[in-house]
Order: sequence, then C-alpha cells, then structure tokens
Amino acid sequence: MHLSSSLLALLLPAATQASLQIVPGASWTASDGEHLNAHGAGIIRVNDTFYLIGEDKAQGSAFQNINCYSSRDLVQWKFEGRLLSRQGSGDLGPNRIVERPKVIYNDRTRQYVMWMHIDSSDYKDARVGVAVGDQVCGSYRRSHWHGLAGVSGKGMLTGVGYLRSFRPLGFQSRDMGLFKDDDGTAYLLTEDRQNGLRINKLTADYLDVAEATYKWSEKIESPAMIKLNGRYYIFGSHLTGWDPNDNVYSTSTSLSSGWSSWQTFADKGSNTYHSQTTYILQYPGSPSNLMYLGDRWRPGNLHQSSYIWLPLTIEGTKVTLKNRGSWIPNLNPPTGGASTTWAAAPAATTYNALSSSNARLSGAAKQVTCNNCANKKAAGYIGGPNNGVLTFYNINFSGSGSSNSQEELTTIWFRYHNGDSQARYASLVVNGREIPGRVAFIGTRGEVQSSVVHVPLRRGGGNEIVVRGWNGGWGPDVEALIVPQQ
Ligand SMILES: *[C@@H]1O[C@H](CO)[C@@H](O)[C@H](O)[C@H]1NC(C)=O
Ligand SMILES: *[C@@H]1O[C@H](CO)[C@@H](O)[C@H](O)[C@H]1NC(C)=O
Repeated sequence: MHLSSSLLALLLPAATQASLQIVPGASWTASDGEHLNAHGAGIIRVNDTFYLIGEDKAQGSAFQNINCYSSRDLVQWKFEGRLLSRQGSGDLGPNRIVERPKVIYNDRTRQYVMWMHIDSSDYKDARVGVAVGDQVCGSYRRSHWHGLAGVSGKGMLTGVGYLRSFRPLGFQSRDMGLFKDDDGTAYLLTEDRQNGLRINKLTADYLDVAEATYKWSEKIESPAMIKLNGRYYIFGSHLTGWDPNDNVYSTSTSLSSGWSSWQTFADKGSNTYHSQTTYILQYPGSPSNLMYLGDRWRPGNLHQSSYIWLPLTIEGTKVTLKNRGSWIPNLNPPTGGASTTWAAAPAATTYNALSSSNARLSGAAKQVTCNNCANKKAAGYIGGPNNGVLTFYNINFSGSGSSNSQEELTTIWFRYHNGDSQARYASLVVNGREIPGRVAFIGTRGEVQSSVVHVPLRRGGGNEIVVRGWNGGWGPDVEALIVPQQ
C-alpha cells in the first residue's frame, strides 16, 4: 500500500498538501501499487471525494474492467475496486469493447447511473450501454446480477448492475460523454459516425434516451461538456483513431441552438499536447478551477497510456489550455473563505542518478546506456537477484512554507526508462523510513518517462532517498530525481 491520505494525516500536520502536484504524462502509482488504470475516464464528486472511473487497459484494448479510484486532492488515488468486469458472454463478454464509462447521480431515484460505449471488436455494434448502482464506487462490482427491480422477475429492489445496450434513437454511437445540467436533466453526448455528434436528452430516471436535443454535422468524438456562468461548453476530438489531433470546443447558452463553430483550445499543432479529451472537471476552491482530462494513448502498448490533466482557462467564449510539466490543483480554500485557484509548479532541482555528489550505486547497480536520456546513460540493475540499490543523498528541500512542521509531504519524480512493455517496480526508503508499498514504473519500451511519488521530505538539506527493487524484481533504469523547491 502507498501512504494513504489518512495515514499521512497521522504522520504530518494539516495544510501540508500545498506542494502535491499533478505531473501530466507520468506513471502515477495508485494505492494498489500499480499505474493508475482508468482510461477514457470521468470524475464524479461525492461528499468532497472525487471518484475517477475509467477503463482498465492493463491487458490491451479488449474489455477487462471498469475501475474506480478515489481521491480528496486529485493527486493521490486510492484503488477502490472494479465496478464492472468481463463476463462469460454478452455485452461484457470476451473480446468486447467497453469504453468511456461516465457516471452521474440521479437525485430522484438515488441511483448512480453509468453510461458507456459498448461495441464488438470490429466496432460495428456501435451502441451505448447503461448500468446502475446504489453506491458510486462499490455496488456495480457485484458479479452476480440481481436484475433491475421488476425486469428480470427474480430481481431485488436493491438490484444493481449492467442493464443493456442499444443504439440511441436508432443511430450509431461510439465515443460518448454524459452531462448533467444544473436543473437535474441529463444528456448523452454521442458520436454518430454517419450523421455527426449529437446531444440526446435522457429520461428522468437517466436509464434511457428520451429525445434528440441537437446534432452537429461535424464528426467529433470523445465529447465532454460543462456549464459555467450559464454557458455550455462542449469539447471533443476529431476522428484520428488512437492518434491525437488538435481537439476542439463549441459553446452556446442553449443546448438546442446557437452553438459556435468548433475552435481549438490547446496550442495549434500540439495535438492537444498529445492527448484526447475524456472529461472536463469543475472542482472547488475557485470558480475558475477547471481541469482538462485527456488520454495520451499508446496504441502499441495501451498499458503505457498516461493522463494529460491540465488547468483549463475560460474567459467568456474563449477557452485556453496551456501545457505544463507539473502544476498544483489547490482545492482547499484557506480559512477566511478566499478562493484558491490552481498554481504553477515551483522550480525544481534535478539530481542526476550518476551524480558524484548526490547519488551512489551499490550492490549490483551500475551505469547503463540509455539512448533517450540526456546524457545517454542511467543508473541500472536496480533490484534484481543481487539487490542493486540507488541512493540519492544531500537532497535539498525548501518546502512550501505552509506549515511549521519539519517535514512536508511533497511530490517528487524519477526520470526513467525500461525496455519492457510491462511495468517495473521499486520500493523507497526516505530518510530511513520505508515508504509502504511500491512505486510503479510503466513499461516505456526504451522511451524516457517520469514516475511520480508523494513522500515526506525534511526541510533543508540532507534528505536521503533510497531506490530498491521490489520483491526481487528489476527496478527501472533511473536517469534523475526531480525535487520541487519553493
Ligand atoms: C455522502 O454523505 C451522505 C450524507 O452523510 C451519505 O448518506 C452518503 O452515503 C455519502 N456518500 C458517499 C459516497 O460516501
Ligand atoms: C543544496 O543546498 C546547499 C546549501 O544551501 C547548497 O550548497 C547546494 O548547492 C544545494 N544543492 C543543489 C543541488 O542545489
């Protein structure tokens, strides 16, 4: 297990989260010791907890699971469980496509309703699927389907589970999104390959499509919608398969008319910083706290796919997304009620893993070639049968100054590569204290990537971070350690 938020709350005083950062595109280790596995995801917030629900892509593109993670800070994620898993046959059977799960809460029926893209492996079914649960992140996981009350005859009133799939209003539907308006009406955003992107109003119980609300003639997929100050914004991508493109948005004050022409919101030519829209999150702290959630797909190794989460700026009808190596989503307003907005990341110090003054190799660990590393070399043979160890020492940390404590939880990351397509793992000892669990390093097949971990560091110099293998396995080849300095 990773240090859980509650455990850290015991170890460290409050208000120590100021330097927890989102590092887009990195390997993010969740509480289960694996890279966060929630692709094509959405987030639903319940009682100050964010639930991230997305596709398990550990074994490729065929459906395995819909995973759920929870977090209170958008940075540290606890694996909660699998909401739906592969079944013996049917919509959720072997070699099926189940993508882009999105969950909303129905205040009237008090049920969580999940919509998702349901398809055959050749994408010819082109349907949407619906499931219901009585808890946001728990009850869908029951593998035995009770049946919705009154539907199966043997159903229980508390019945939860996967209901069915269909083509909304008879039209094809692939990448889809879901939007709940502030009047409680919900809408399915659906990519109709033959006719264009649609908004369809759902029935009051959210379990069916009631009527067509709007249709664009443009072909846009992976739609996501928000409403801000009475204005709707819809985001989506062009159709280029797994490859990214310059994603676009349209805005209107009415769902059924007046939509502006599609425009880009990220730097033109950046292919939305190599990502595809999956969700836009409005989170507390400030009204302008908006986060773009995109998938950086790696079609040759879907397990390597990462998450591009970035602060999104909206001014009137203009939407802007800028790329950032890392950033801080401040969502805890300070006492006094002032709003807090996201913050740019502080400067950081890079400690090379082969530095003579800050790093030491021991056991069987030794220098290895790393063609994609800046200096063409890295620290390798970490872990393994001869227990190679990489120790970073004399590591400075200034802290955010937001607490008087000597120690502060902070985000650090390793630049690494490994030749595998599967993950490698490492265990860490920080200032003599073993960090529970392990850090995942998604397979990079030789590319250099970052893996993020949140650890308590002491203010001042002299921090020591020891990187060891985990359970006798090989760790990654580490190029450098990056530590923020406020
Ligand atoms: C949220 O809080 C309400 C009221 O305390 C409670 O009934 C509900 O179970 C909570 N939901 C979750 C997901 O914790
Ligand atoms: C760490 O701090 C010490 C003392 O201020 C300084 O001499 C040293 O250069 C710093 N190291 C790095 C890598 O910045």
